Amino acid sequence: MSDVAVIGAGYVGLTTAACFARLGHEVRCADIDAERVARLSGGEIPILEEGLPGLVAEGLSVSRLRFVHGASAAVVGAEFVFLCVGTPQASDGRADLTAVEAVCAEIAPLLAPGTVVVNKSTVPVGTTRLVARWLAEAGVGHEVGVASNPEFLREGTAVRDFLQPQRIVIGCDDPAVAVRVSELYRGVPAPTVVTDAASAELVKQAANSFLAMKISFMNAVANVCEAVNADVRDVALGMGYDPRIGTEFLQPGPGFGGACLPKDTAALLHTAAECGYDFSVLRGVLDVNDRQRAHIVDRIREAAGGDLAGRRVAVLGLTFKANTDDLRESPALEITRALVAAGASVRAFDPVAGEAAAVMVPGLEIAPDAYAAAEGAEALAILTEWDQFRWLDYTRVVSAMAEPRVVDARNLLDPAAMRRLGFAYQGVGR
Ligand SMILES: NC(=O)c1ccc[n+]([C@@H]2O[C@H](COP(=O)([O-])OP(=O)(O)OC[C@H]3O[C@@H](n4cnc5c(N)ncnc54)[C@H](O)[C@@H]3O)[C@@H](O)[C@H]2O)c1
Repeated sequence: MSDVAVIGAGYVGLTTAACFARLGHEVRCADIDAERVARLSGGEIPILEEGLPGLVAEGLSVSRLRFVHGASAAVVGAEFVFLCVGTPQASDGRADLTAVEAVCAEIAPLLAPGTVVVNKSTVPVGTTRLVARWLAEAGVGHEVGVASNPEFLREGTAVRDFLQPQRIVIGCDDPAVAVRVSELYRGVPAPTVVTDAASAELVKQAANSFLAMKISFMNAVANVCEAVNADVRDVALGMGYDPRIGTEFLQPGPGFGGACLPKDTAALLHTAAECGYDFSVLRGVLDVNDRQRAHIVDRIREAAGGDLAGRRVAVLGLTFKANTDDLRESPALEITRALVAAGASVRAFDPVAGEAAAVMVPGLEIAPDAYAAAEGAEALAILTEWDQFRWLDYTRVVSAMAEPRVVDARNLLDPAAMRRLGFAYQGVGR
């Protein structure tokens, strides 16, 4: 079993640390945020992620998992250092590597000979080499290995995705180092792709861009369906039986969001542009995504009678998808922001992220439940696919609303059943 340091205790770092401890490694997980470290050390999990509280509690109780403040405190004695810090999108589309560079500068003087620094953050092609350069410039005085090991977990199912992944990708120009990294995953049943660092980095960006493309493609198809009176759900079903297409990621909605798909698509577009290649498909993917949010706002405006100013709108769901508390790049939040900006009086309910969202959208009112959100509303918009919204008592909702009009941006509800209850119902692409 190995001694592992994980830098960054966010969605990826915390999951990585807890799962490596479960696999039997000695793990120290560092974050720059002292309060987060204190909460984690007390067993309090700052994010919503199924299975994570149990794994962290288990790791803490057998002392295979510790949380420390600052990267320096984690790396002394580590055989492997996993970089799991954020790489947000800079204003020009490229990935901002400031946090990765800062960690390299901090840890370089402390790394023992033979340590392997593994980058798990999503980064542009060439970053593994950059990491090696930053470490050298910051004074690593001997041989350390540097590898890329992109992470494919999805928020909401992160623990399962880590322990039962579809694949493990390890990129390193030194095969012996790649083998050492692969041994950390012993016991994890998944094919391992060992390749050079640039290819591993590109796997992650290309995979996320491809997923974003599927979503934008289906949103575009949904818009055609609306124009020709077809049902996108049946179109997706008919397409998905073809294994070359597959059934997943064919659901239309308000567009993709979250901390990964928008930024990784923009980053690949930027990488291509830097190489002199116009990746026009990706420009289209991002353009459809922007327009889809505006399209949903238009639908809500129509439902509210053609003008949002002074209208009361109920919003259900604010996170970027269900089963997470993540509001980053949430289409639901952006749409809500546009409604407020257009003068609507918006009352929203989200099962986990209401209070956090209220801070991010001045003027947004948060309701204690879906029925309170619907009270007196002239339109109701379902923006995140939380399962509980399927099972609301819609007879209660219909009587609570001033005008029973629903824009179901996630196609969560049965249109015929909603119409029978007296709603004017509008889904996406149907
Ligand atoms: N969230 C996902 O679903 C997901 C999935 C796969 C890959 N990724 C990638 O993984 C990376 C991390 O994403 P995330 O969602 O976990 O981000 P996050 O913002 O949730 O977590 C990053 C953590 O790093 C900490 N940090 C920043 N600078 C630090 C420093 N100098 N020392 C110690 N800690 C520091 C932050 O305080 C934060 O807690 C990103 O590159 C992202 O693109 C994310």
